[in-house]
Amino acid sequence: MATVYIASDHAGLELKASLVRHLTEKGHTVHDLGPSSPESCDYPVYAKKVCTQVVADAGDKATPGDNPASYGILICGTGIGMSMTANHIPGIRAALCCGEFQARATRMHNNANVLCIGERVTGPGVALDMADIFLATPFEGGRHLRRINQIEG
Ligand code: RB5
Repeated sequence: MATVYIASDHAGLELKASLVRHLTEKGHTVHDLGPSSPESCDYPVYAKKVCTQVVADAGDKATPGDNPASYGILICGTGIGMSMTANHIPGIRAALCCGEFQARATRMHNNANVLCIGERVTGPGVALDMADIFLATPFEGGRHLRRINQIEG
């Protein structure tokens, strides 16, 4: 079971609620970092909240090849603003996914530690399946570690 930090903007609020319910029922430790009301808000604020926690949990000794101890999930209308913001933060490898294949492959090949989803793009059934797959799939290491080591720096 994983520790999951999750947040959205106003355009991702409904899917966030479904994901919190679903992942909690599955036994994951889920921290909902907001928002809690549907007023318009700014996705970078929430992306940064989640990514700060994910990086803090990874700790100083974490290398890009470590399987993350905790993960982030970020939802906005398209998933794009969240992923742009998250990937500015050192230590974050955020993947905007639209289907199960991407959710599995980005864990296996990119050791992604944040899953981004667009509520206006991806239906709730696929989104919940993507989150399950993302949290259950280990990083393959090997040549993929060499490659992700080249992303930062
Ligand atoms: C909000 O209208 C929308 O711009 C936002 O949720 C997101 O899609 C930005 O990337």
